[in-house]
Amino acid sequence: IRCQSTNTKEPKTNNNILDNASNLFTNLLSGGSLGSMPTAEGAVSDLFGKPLFLSLYDWFIEHGGVYKLAFGPKAFVVISDPIVARHVLRENAFSYDKGVLAEILEPIMGKGLIPADLDTWKLRRRAITPAFHALYLEAMVKVFSDCSEKMISKSEKLLRDSGGDTIELDLEAEFSSLALDIIGLSVFNYDFGSVTKESPVIKAVYGTLFEAEHRSTFYFPYWNFPPARWIVPRQRKFQSDLKIINECLDGLIQNAKETRQETDVEKLQQRDYSNLKDASLLRFLVDMRGVDIDDRQLRDDLMTMLIAGHETTAAVLTWAVYLLAQSPAKIRKAQSEIDAVLGENAPTYESLKKLEYIRLTVVESLRLYPQPPLLIRRTLKPETLPGGYKGEKEGHKVPKGTDIFISVYNLHRSPYFWDNPQEFEPERFLRTKESNGIEGWAGFDPSRSPGALYPNEIIADFAFLPFGGGPRKCIGDQFALMESTVALAMLLQKFDVELRGPPESVELVSGATIHAKNGMWCKLKRRSK
Ligand code: HEM
Repeated sequence: IRCQSTNTKEPKTNNNILDNASNLFTNLLSGGSLGSMPTAEGAVSDLFGKPLFLSLYDWFIEHGGVYKLAFGPKAFVVISDPIVARHVLRENAFSYDKGVLAEILEPIMGKGLIPADLDTWKLRRRAITPAFHALYLEAMVKVFSDCSEKMISKSEKLLRDSGGDTIELDLEAEFSSLALDIIGLSVFNYDFGSVTKESPVIKAVYGTLFEAEHRSTFYFPYWNFPPARWIVPRQRKFQSDLKIINECLDGLIQNAKETRQETDVEKLQQRDYSNLKDASLLRFLVDMRGVDIDDRQLRDDLMTMLIAGHETTAAVLTWAVYLLAQSPAKIRKAQSEIDAVLGENAPTYESLKKLEYIRLTVVESLRLYPQPPLLIRRTLKPETLPGGYKGEKEGHKVPKGTDIFISVYNLHRSPYFWDNPQEFEPERFLRTKESNGIEGWAGFDPSRSPGALYPNEIIADFAFLPFGGGPRKCIGDQFALMESTVALAMLLQKFDVELRGPPESVELVSGATIHAKNGMWCKLKRRSK
């Protein structure tokens, strides 16, 4: 939901069409059927004053970790309690599906992992998980650094051409191109080359992402009426964008099938990625499963990873820069680590392990700006939620078909689980259980996940959910974290970064992810060492 706010602590937010929806919802407002659950009341107008996830935070502080938002016969349950979130995502995961999210994404992703029905999901998750093997990730670090190098070289050239020592760049746009190039090469060995050029396929990918976002923020699913596909110009464009991407993906799938070679299959079986010309996920899926694998399913898998892995990573990098740029001392700390670990070299899989501050910066950015800020579920049968973290014995009963938002944003900024929750402090993840400063919450304990390169949902027992949790947890989490670490390290290795204007002038909009309405304009200055 896109809206306006003058809150000075957060970037500004932007208002639009949903004002009109206010009346529609107000007419529907009554009660919902969730018994004694606390209700966010009289708040429909607030819904349209700022992004939904920000309103959900205010109501969380007022109503607690489980409350309902009621619209006539329909009610949404909002969960900001880690014990209840853990139940929905992990302990009872298969009593829920993706509800409205699956309805929105199905036309784009088909039976890809995110919207897939349970039976398809089980099959595909089993087939795709081995493709993200640690040795594949290790091989991909080179792709991350090669693509980041192109972005850096482009910026250096702009600097040289400008004749000065500072340039202004929209880093959100740059990161978006970078993430697209990386996902193209690593998932289907296709070079979008979007850091340096434009193409019909790139335009179609952005058009499709734009439409997915429109659908996730629009109050009435008019696109489900078949005539809308031809009458509404943006829907016609969406159909034509989908056709362009489908043709591109179909061509890549055909090519992967036709060029399948037994020698490559052997190398893949031995995870010998260093000797493979094409180490992409597509190659893995075709080679390991044989050419009889269903083209349609493969297309859906690739499309899902393209959409799921592109904008999310770009958003993490964008907000990491936004946060860092407000703290020169933290930039300096990051740069001394980079200088000590990398010198002038590009990151490798081994050196990533030593870039601790950069890794924690990425993770802390995800805490403050989770992508997406809300997880969506719908109950497949009547459910009883557990009591919350305060140890309540009884939870709430929810009927079949209830729509649920798990507010990752609320969990990540909860005053009950985090010390200085609104502050950007990458160091917080180094604190021990005893020194985390929160009374009454024993959930935070880094020692729970020994050896993990990045803090995860286990260390804070579901009060931290940057990639969800349970069986539907993000399949690309380590991929995305390493990619972000490499890109951020390479940017700061060469440049000092400042925001072009005051932080409050950055307008925040949220669709599937949180992003800056007019881009994240920054000043990039060549580092003087
Ligand atoms: C699922 C976040 C990058 C592929 C998810 C979920 C989250 C998430 C929160 C769980 C959604 C839910 O439970 O409803 C992120 C973030 C990323 C990122 C923050 C970047 C920083 C990637 C990448 C890929 C990817 C790079 C693939 C290359 C997927 C897929 C799923 C998923 C396929 C669905 C998993 C399933 O249902 O089995 N992601 N993701 N993501 N993500 Fe990511």
